[in-house]
Amino acid sequence: MQSFVYSYPTKVYFGQGAARQALEAELSHYGPQVLLAYGGGSVKRNGVYDELMALLRAAGKTVTEFSGIMSNPTYAKVQEGAALAREHQIDLILAVGGGSVIDCCKIVAAQAKTEEDLWEMEFTAHRLPADVIPMGAVVTASGTGAEMNGGAVITNEKKKLKAGMAAAAPRFAVLDPAYTLTLPMGQVISGAFDTLSHAMETYFGQSDADNVSDEVALAIMKNTVVNIRRVLKDNQDLEAHSNLMWDSAMAENGIMKVGRKTDFQAHQMEHQLGAYTDCNHGQGLAVIHPAYYRHIVQDAPEKFARLGKTVFGVDGAEAAVDALAAFIQECGLPTRMGQLRSTMEITPELLRQVADSCNLISSNPRTLTHDEVYDILCECL
Ligand code: NZQ
Ligand code: ZN
Repeated sequence: MQSFVYSYPTKVYFGQGAARQALEAELSHYGPQVLLAYGGGSVKRNGVYDELMALLRAAGKTVTEFSGIMSNPTYAKVQEGAALAREHQIDLILAVGGGSVIDCCKIVAAQAKTEEDLWEMEFTAHRLPADVIPMGAVVTASGTGAEMNGGAVITNEKKKLKAGMAAAAPRFAVLDPAYTLTLPMGQVISGAFDTLSHAMETYFGQSDADNVSDEVALAIMKNTVVNIRRVLKDNQDLEAHSNLMWDSAMAENGIMKVGRKTDFQAHQMEHQLGAYTDCNHGQGLAVIHPAYYRHIVQDAPEKFARLGKTVFGVDGAEAAVDALAAFIQECGLPTRMGQLRSTMEITPELLRQVADSCNLISSNPRTLTHDEVYDILCECL
């Protein structure tokens, strides 16, 4: 085990009715001005907005709305939110949505507190923000685990980069699985595949063979696969949604990652693909994972075999990758670049730019080169 310091910053309210329980307990800790942030409008159609507004009004809060936060949130949208937060002297940000809304708000919370350009501060000056507006997260789409960590993935459109920024974790998180019942099947599955990916990406990082983290990661993978299969049969299976919601949080709340190194090379490739195409995160991962794993399977054959046996009940390293690819098909996830949502045609020329701007990980089974990243991406065409 590597040395670590661990403390947990987010108070979690899980289960049906969690929003009322959380807001009645938490709102009195903050001043009157609340920024209510959400995406393109699903919260208005499924009643979550009305429920939260009533709770905020009952607590005597003045609400400023920050709406239209898009999937793969942009740095420009962060600046819009930060300007609103400054103008209205916001005391608490309430982020209501999936990973995109939550991530955008994490960076708004920091940007609103400084005149300095946050991107330059983090990536050029290599400093972290000193102060943030407190925030809470109400999860309506699970998978990223964004509600329980201090990272945020933001697309800088001008720089053509999608990158993880450091931020403060939400002070509290509402996880009501009933809120996810209105998600279309495609988003449920892409979110759950993201969870599976987080567990695999952690597992394939370098660690001692008997690290407890590997056991936890395998358990999360197995449970995610079981509950994806339940949701595929019945998208209104509340228990399956509950299990997936907690799998999602468990995979990204940091517990699995302490004391070890992680891989996350597939995420680096997907994030850069997203920077150019705006593709759906979980779907992009589904396309890339099997191709990446076929490249590194002989660099960690025992680990692949252990995953195959535990999660899919198959024998051998290559069989594990085949089983993962078959599962992706079973889920109806995209398997080729051409099936991804994209703002532009995905060509080898585009993939060259994606590959050349992709971060290379050094704690995965084998460090790739930009040329090998390009080969992997082209194999997905
Ligand atoms: O915008 P609205 O209308 O709300 O619709 C959203 C959006 O279109 C819809 N939706 C959300 N809740 C719903 C609902 N539709 C019906 N009923 C509901 N209850 O779902 C769509 C997708 O939402 P989004 O937030 O984009 O999805 P997701 O949660 O997958 O988040 C993806 C973002 O998170 C980042 C990704 O890169 C991507 O930008 N990630 C964040 C991580 C983190 N902070 O820890 C880790 C991840 O690896 C990931 O990179
Ligand atoms: Zn992810």
